[in-house]
Amino acid sequence: MHPVLRLSEHAQRSADQAIGFLMQQAVENADCISLAAGLVDEQSLPVEAAREAVAELLSDVAAGRKILQYGITPGPEPLRRVFRSYLAELEKHPDGLKDLPLSQLMLTTGSQQLLSLVSQALFNPGDICLIAAPTYFVFIDVLQAAGARIIPVHADENGMCPEALEKTLQQLETEGQLHRVRLVYVVSYFENPSGISVSVERRPKLLEMTQRYSRSNRILLLEDAAYRELIYDGEPAPSIWSFDKTRETVILAQTFSKSFSPGIRVGFGVLPQQIVKAVSDLKGNEDFGSAHLNQHIVARVLKNGVYARHVETVRNSYRQKRDAMLAAAEREFADVPGVSWVRASGGMYVWMKLPDHVETGFSSELFRRATQVDKVMYVPGELAYPVDWPQRPRCEMRLSFGVQSVEGIEEGIRRLARAVKAVMGIG
Ligand SMILES: Cc1ncc(COP(=O)(O)O)c(C=O)c1O
Repeated sequence: MHPVLRLSEHAQRSADQAIGFLMQQAVENADCISLAAGLVDEQSLPVEAAREAVAELLSDVAAGRKILQYGITPGPEPLRRVFRSYLAELEKHPDGLKDLPLSQLMLTTGSQQLLSLVSQALFNPGDICLIAAPTYFVFIDVLQAAGARIIPVHADENGMCPEALEKTLQQLETEGQLHRVRLVYVVSYFENPSGISVSVERRPKLLEMTQRYSRSNRILLLEDAAYRELIYDGEPAPSIWSFDKTRETVILAQTFSKSFSPGIRVGFGVLPQQIVKAVSDLKGNEDFGSAHLNQHIVARVLKNGVYARHVETVRNSYRQKRDAMLAAAEREFADVPGVSWVRASGGMYVWMKLPDHVETGFSSELFRRATQVDKVMYVPGELAYPVDWPQRPRCEMRLSFGVQSVEGIEEGIRRLARAVKAVMGIG
């Protein structure tokens, strides 16, 4: 008889993750042009800049030894000061955000770690998180693992609707469930998967709504700004965090993965004072500090201006690719009725909607045809909604212009259109 390995409830709730399944599909369909991978453009990765930064950091043996030692849980104070100045520039803050205590700024392993730690800090099974529909599917998995009840809120071309958020909160109050609401999660810039940003008008409204319904317990708003700097048209919007004058409601998650290097994996969070200790204690259990060398690399390129120049290059490259994908979609889908897509002004994705009856999921006719016959892969849109949500749309796709060259994008969209037309029985 074999003894049974008993897994924790947390591990059991973490099973069947969308990201795991997607990666498996990517491996199984390695011969496809991938419009699925959300990876950063390989050509853009800053090899020279990283090499120089490491060489400079380790050029002095004594200083190098300190850098190769453990750091501290939230990241060393001098480095956090550098990240605070960077944030002040993003926020166009006149006095460099000197009034933001460094204790409220925590360096993390990418922003994903912050999303996970915040969830661990806030949710017992059954507690509620409100999300935009659709939203970042890895966070949906994190919430599911925490046992949270996930409630999607209507979002349109201007992001999550404050009126819909209010209606949901009112409804929960009527049902006597308001005290279970812990968090509103908003990807405020060029959302993964939809490419949509929350409009400037809506930003303070979402905050105000969150604050208004913080009654017997405080509801926090987690602003995930992962794609903030990948902006290709227009002016950057102020963060939702910037409207939170008392800094008691919004948690801001920032990352350098998309704009610099996911392999270095440095991010940081700005946290309301009330939650700092809980998140720090949880991080202490997890790693008592993210990779110290990596934090130094990012701080160095921020200080010496290399980062700012790099972001400019990355923007130019992605802008071209975004334009190529939109132009290819115009061309290839011109004669397909009922297809629409979002013209994202930033980020890495084009979100495409097919007619309701054309399902896009892993087990759909379209996914089979696209991956097996036409050799192109996309991310099924249904992953971006909770699995048990009855209104979950089944006819959307996330198309990434991150990894492919312009030629790869054009060929990928050509193949995708061929698959869609075949499934719809067009010409
Ligand atoms: C919306 C969003 N948030 C957070 C992350 C996490 O990225 P990282 O941990 O590399 O910062 C991603 C990665 O794809 C993302 O798309």
